[in-house]
Amino acid sequence: MKIAVVGTGYVGLTTALLFAELGHDVLAIDIDEEKVKKINEGFCPIYEPGADELLKKHAGKNLKATKDYDIEDRDLIFICVGTPSREDGGMETKYLEEAARQIGRRLKRGSVVVVKSTVLPGTTEKLVVPIIEEESGLKRGEFGVAMNPEFLREGLAIYDTFHPDRIVIGELDKRSGDALEELYRPLKAPILRTSIKVAEMIKYASNAFLAMKISFANEIAILCEKLGIDVYEVMKGVGMDHRISPYFLNAGAGFGGSCFPKDVKALIYLAKKLGYEPKLLTGTLEINEYMPRHVVELAERELGSLKGMKIAILGLAFKPETDDIRETRALPIVKELLKRGARVIGYDPKAMENFKKLVPEIEYAKTAEEAISNADVVIIQADWEEFKNIDFDSFENLKLVVDGRRTARPKKVRYVAVGRGD
Ligand code: UDX
Repeated sequence: MKIAVVGTGYVGLTTALLFAELGHDVLAIDIDEEKVKKINEGFCPIYEPGADELLKKHAGKNLKATKDYDIEDRDLIFICVGTPSREDGGMETKYLEEAARQIGRRLKRGSVVVVKSTVLPGTTEKLVVPIIEEESGLKRGEFGVAMNPEFLREGLAIYDTFHPDRIVIGELDKRSGDALEELYRPLKAPILRTSIKVAEMIKYASNAFLAMKISFANEIAILCEKLGIDVYEVMKGVGMDHRISPYFLNAGAGFGGSCFPKDVKALIYLAKKLGYEPKLLTGTLEINEYMPRHVVELAERELGSLKGMKIAILGLAFKPETDDIRETRALPIVKELLKRGARVIGYDPKAMENFKKLVPEIEYAKTAEEAISNADVVIIQADWEEFKNIDFDSFENLKLVVDGRRTARPKKVRYVAVGRGD
């Protein structure tokens, strides 16, 4: 099939790589000239394990990138542009609208437009389709429409895209649903066909539920600290119930990233607009906003005032195996530390340059060891593999390790972790 993918962020790029690997002819469209150039030269514009190899295999062959919407000969056009949070928590649709306008101008009769961007229920039918109709002069039915949410995790984007738990296909017309089912058949994943609005809501409800699981574990973690027990032991027992499952019950510094905070906020915004004050969703965010402060409070509980203390923060990305710093819990932790007059030294294997742009005022170390050897306290914010092998006991000046992700196990140095009451 001839496929176009609009937007080459995490979702767009991995989607393009998947279809290229399945043998289709893929055109990746992005407004960013630098990205287009990189992709065509076979260099991945994002850090994502496995993406480089796949890009090298297909770039210039059955995967080409361009700035132009040359979509006239495309059977399927996937919209994968970002829908970030607006100031008021609502969903920013300007990229989506622009993509729809551009697609509409060059769309041929019979092509299928698929929205893969995370969009609030109603957006595809009420916003995207009318723009395409207006620009193309075609009516829905003369072109196909589907909504196909993406559930990949950053850092595992390639694996998740090739091994999805399920494929959700929201369809306006049966022909579009059939085309997508055919496209995804080689993945042998369960396929759920629904209306467009249901597909849109499945994505938000899934993310909100996972975020809620994390905040739930964090709330229980605070209780466990007070009770002198370990939330990880508790959640091990809880997660053994197959109705609950053991995943996303790891207490810590809270959730960050490009999806959970933004999508929960957008769902709260939508609920309020619909006349309902959401309680679970609001609580999920409130607990998450508190957790970075809780991490800093753990250090204070152990050492008293942090004024003038040198504090190394390990892991600046929102989680390991990525250079993405969007909504990273490292930012509120650093802010809390600076507010208390601490001296902060940051280190991350991949995300240092990105974080530096956000917070130029702290110090940065070239290695984890360099950061720790200059510090009184270490706070672990993201559980990178390399942090697991650090011998914290070998650093003479180190007074305390505060573990936000259950990464370390020092024997001599004082150690506290979220949800570990002792
Ligand atoms: C998430 C969803 O998992 C994915 O399905 C969706 O498409 C996009 O959002 P991602 O943001 O890449 O993916 O990361 P994920 O691995 O889900 O982690 C999100 C955040 O939650 C991270 O900050 C992580 O550290 C935190 N987390 C995760 C916890 O604090 N505890 C857990 O048990 C799991």
